[in-house]
Amino acid sequence: MLFFLLNIFAVQQSAIAQYNFFKLVAQWPPAACLTFSCSASRKPQNFTLHGIWPSNTTGNEPRDCFKTNHLPRIHFTGAMVQSLFPRINNSWPDLKGKEETFWGTQWDNHGTCSQNNFNVLNYFKLALDTKDRVDVLKAFVNNNIHPHPTNLYRKVNFENAIIAVTKKKPELRCILRDRPKVVYLLEVGLCLDSTGNNFMDCSPRSPVNVRVKNCDYMGQDIRLLPL
Ligand SMILES: *[C@@H]1O[C@H](CO)[C@@H](O)[C@H](O)[C@H]1NC(C)=O
Ligand SMILES: *[C@@H]1O[C@H](CO)[C@@H](O)[C@H](O)[C@H]1NC(C)=O
Ligand SMILES: *[C@@H]1O[C@H](CO)[C@@H](O)[C@H](O)[C@H]1NC(C)=O
Repeated sequence: MLFFLLNIFAVQQSAIAQYNFFKLVAQWPPAACLTFSCSASRKPQNFTLHGIWPSNTTGNEPRDCFKTNHLPRIHFTGAMVQSLFPRINNSWPDLKGKEETFWGTQWDNHGTCSQNNFNVLNYFKLALDTKDRVDVLKAFVNNNIHPHPTNLYRKVNFENAIIAVTKKKPELRCILRDRPKVVYLLEVGLCLDSTGNNFMDCSPRSPVNVRVKNCDYMGQDIRLLPL
């Protein structure tokens, strides 16, 4: 009997994915719309939220924790964030035009990994409040980086523009397009400690997937597309 209980305990322990920081990811709509087709009814004139992701400095970022962490499954509905309308619509539009689906997927993939500390409403509020702490576009313009069809800027200039506001290093996320290859700024990641209160440096060996290249391609400078 004791063996049986210990066994269950061990299985549950090993399955729990943990986060030790958050990464807020703000996307630049004109670049995001190079990677999928955007709705004509969504033309935000600003950086918008992609999400806020519980992440781990020592491993892969946990995902879909409703599957792995044996927590009660909370199914997202738009009604759960109604008190954040219309702020959430403005800051976190789905560029394909399906907000509830986008928000629900972000909740399942990422929000469920911090649901012990942030319920649905607090999770979405954390994203909105964090985004509003840094006006990314204004930070770039203040650093003489302007959305433009052909101008190119050094990666360090983008980083320094954010550091001027947060005092911490962001994670730049880029895509490559065209021939010869052009590096386009796609997203800006801002890292915060696990409380969500304090900015911290994003880790230099930030995970990069196939779609989102890091911004170091051949030492090339980076383009910020016009809106
Ligand atoms: C994530 O962070 C915690 C705390 O630092 C650690 O115990 C855990 O093993 C890490 N990795 C994963 C994949 O959860
Ligand atoms: C956006 O906000 C309004 C309320 O201001 C609401 O009626 C509408 O349903 C919201 N849109 C979505 C997609 O949730
Ligand atoms: C763009 O977003 C930032 C951060 O949320 C906000 O502070 C700023 O007012 C927005 N700018 C415009 C023009 O809406």
